[in-house]
Amino acid sequence: MDVMRIRGGTPLKGVVKTQGAKNAALPVMASCLLLKGRTLTLENVPDLHDVSTMLDLLACLGVTMERLGNRMTFSVPEEISWEAPEHLVRKMRASSLALGPLLARCGKTVLPLPGGCSIGSRPIDLHLKGLMQMGAKIEIRNGIVYAQADQLRGRRIYLDFPSVGATENLMMAAALAKGETIIENTAREPEIENLASVLRGMGVTVDTEGTGCVRIKGVEEVQGCRERVIPDRIEASTYVLAGVITGGEVTVDDIVPAHMDALLAKLEEAGVRFHVGSSSVTVFPVRRLMPVSIRAMPYPGFPTDLQPQMVATLTLANGVSLVEESVFQARFLYSEELNRMGANITIKGDTAIIQGVERLQGASVRAMDLRAGAALILAALAAEGETRIDEMVHVWRGYEASDKKLKALGADVALEEAEEK
Ligand code: UD1
Repeated sequence: MDVMRIRGGTPLKGVVKTQGAKNAALPVMASCLLLKGRTLTLENVPDLHDVSTMLDLLACLGVTMERLGNRMTFSVPEEISWEAPEHLVRKMRASSLALGPLLARCGKTVLPLPGGCSIGSRPIDLHLKGLMQMGAKIEIRNGIVYAQADQLRGRRIYLDFPSVGATENLMMAAALAKGETIIENTAREPEIENLASVLRGMGVTVDTEGTGCVRIKGVEEVQGCRERVIPDRIEASTYVLAGVITGGEVTVDDIVPAHMDALLAKLEEAGVRFHVGSSSVTVFPVRRLMPVSIRAMPYPGFPTDLQPQMVATLTLANGVSLVEESVFQARFLYSEELNRMGANITIKGDTAIIQGVERLQGASVRAMDLRAGAALILAALAAEGETRIDEMVHVWRGYEASDKKLKALGADVALEEAEEK
């Protein structure tokens, strides 16, 4: 279903269960490529389009899978293919997470460059540089990466930017490299720890220290294991903001509250009252938010994947908020769509200047990417009248059953097919 219609204005109320994290599931699924004749079992795998794309990629490479609810078992034969098909890599950037494990396990791989997307250019130079430092020979011809290494060797690698994907790719490559790999200035997102835990389960010694340095002692062969995908902090945060923007009372359950510290700190500053339980957060009704200044940056900073949803929420604050984006260059395109709904957002370089307005109005808008779509849903939930959001296909990449979850909270939401053009 590619169109969502929302009639806004109802304060949401109730409890939402959080899905497994998309950004944790994708790398841990890719890590099964390290196995030979063994299985990886994952609990809490979300049912998302991006997960299906990763399943298609793994199937093309020779992995067989079984799904029982949210539990998935990946059986990896002795021999697999090392060539990632172009149409899947183009469909989802995270397909590049196959690079490290395929190279380490097969000694070579062919993977098309993933290309840019609507939030920025998103190169993988840091992934490639790290692999070359570990001894890989890499050539890029006609947009395709040809990588080869009979045996990767552990090295000290410094990342110029704490890239999530580069950290994950290099960790997986290091699992089968000879000797110790020390990666410095790594990403510190909770999803990195989830991957580290899988690699430990596979018999690899991984020390994450939690300080932006990861040490990995490679092994000759990894063993099968079982692991649980962590809760999706971005999905949970989006529902928290759905409560806030509608002046409702929403509890998100099955979460790790500490993963949401940056959001909760900003909500507190904006005057929102909330209760933090051991695995839940409840936000209480707020009449009008106070404006705040935010900088989206790598974890534990405020997540860039929550920046559009936070901007949407601040469109109704009582004053001027400033939101700076430091991770992706082009992550404000959605602001035009919010302005069509009556928001007052001006973009100056890397900063959105949000002059709060008293109300938003429903309009016909387009989700240009995953989190942009989530931001439009939030605005629509608070707006007067009906909003039609087209291109929901982006939202299904990362939000499981969002229509059902919103309805259960009392929202007036309907899905429909787009008309044939
Ligand atoms: C992951 C998340 C994505 C999130 C992002 C930042 C997954 C599947 N996706 O994406 O949802 O928005 O982290 O939190 O986990 N960069 C380079 N060269 C590289 C790699 C990255 O210049 O080799 C730049 C990117 O263009 C971007 C920044 O570094 O500007 C962050 O990218 P990165 O942390 O790698 O994000 P992803 O792993 O692609």
